Amino acid sequence: MIISGPLQHEILEHAIQCKTYVAKFHGRADVLDKLEKYIKNEKENRPCIVYGASGCGKTSVLAKAATEALNWWSDRAVSVILRFLGTTPTSSTVYKTILSISQHICKLYNLSMEIYPDVLQLRHQLETNLLIRIPANEYLVLLLDSIDQLEPEAYDCQWLVGTFPHNVKCIVSTIPDHGNILAHLKGIINYNQLSPNETEHLLVSVPSFEVSTVEIVYNDWLAMKKRSLSDEQRLFIRDLMEERNEILPLYMKLVFDIILTWHSYDSINIELKKLRNVDDCIRYLFNHLEKVHNRLLFIRAICYMTSCRNCISQNELEDVLSLDDEVLESVFQHYIPPVRRLPGILWTRIRNDLDEYITEKEADDSSVIYWYD
Ligand SMILES: Nc1ncnc2c1ncn2[C@@H]1O[C@H](COP(=O)(O)OP(=O)(O)O)[C@@H](O)[C@H]1O
Ligand SMILES: [Mg+2]
Repeated sequence: MIISGPLQHEILEHAIQCKTYVAKFHGRADVLDKLEKYIKNEKENRPCIVYGASGCGKTSVLAKAATEALNWWSDRAVSVILRFLGTTPTSSTVYKTILSISQHICKLYNLSMEIYPDVLQLRHQLETNLLIRIPANEYLVLLLDSIDQLEPEAYDCQWLVGTFPHNVKCIVSTIPDHGNILAHLKGIINYNQLSPNETEHLLVSVPSFEVSTVEIVYNDWLAMKKRSLSDEQRLFIRDLMEERNEILPLYMKLVFDIILTWHSYDSINIELKKLRNVDDCIRYLFNHLEKVHNRLLFIRAICYMTSCRNCISQNELEDVLSLDDEVLESVFQHYIPPVRRLPGILWTRIRNDLDEYITEKEADDSSVIYWYD
């Protein structure tokens, strides 16, 4: 594919992320089975809602579904439109997302559209002018991961089409306890407390992992990273996991990131036994990175990044760090350069080590960085 414009770039960004999630993916047969049934259910025209706690694996499930959809509908021409909301500037606001999806549909099916200034007009166009023009023998799967990453004004989900043509299926995901998103989504599918059976198949919860899954996943991930563990390290992890009834995949992933910092000759230090939850792991990883990088620089960089209300751009962050005399003093201990400014490479090194945890969004028309959650 030739990457010729912003739309292609956007599509590719999400495709790359999808590939990364799918490469690490394991199990979840029950959840995928429900999604397969939904996709194949010709009578169902409402969207399907995947929900679960932060870090339970919703994004992974949607990524996997994006690739599996082609097998589920193996007998027909299928296109997939996938957006991991909040992971690119274009997918960070509902307006830009709906615009991009509409353009994507026009590109796929050779349709034309208007660029309206308002999200509800775009939605109307999508529903009444684009989706229904998809040829009957073509099938489209629309996947929108993490509605909670959109701006709060989007939480009412009024921008989401509620009824799709027979050849379009839509799966969205969200955390359940944030800004009433789940309640609004339930409204869209006409969830009725008195007869929950009618919408049961449209509400797919993603539970935690069972302890036994962890070892299988780790073996696979270690092989991917071409790493191995000593018997002592292996035993330690088994004990750590067995103390729990169920494992949040995000916790499993962070413990794995910690494992990657070990050397074969490292003995298990006592701190590791205290890694009970996601917060403990993040604290441990940050402590480790403090030692790898200049401690003061690292701490100030993540403080400045976290404390900005509307996120911060990389250039702004370098500027702010360069205005911090204490940071400069700690960086230039032995030598004072002619220009008193933080060498860009120092932030780049930190950024590289935090790469998996940081995402780029758009705020006030510029690209900014923030924690990916
Ligand atoms: N089924 C799975 N197999 C392997 N790894 C998984 C699975 N589900 C989640 N993970 C890993 O756990 C972490 C959190 O998962 P993610 O899908 O981002 O959760 P959520 O979107 O619910 O916050 C990611 O690093 C992901 O790769
Ligand atoms: Mg997610």
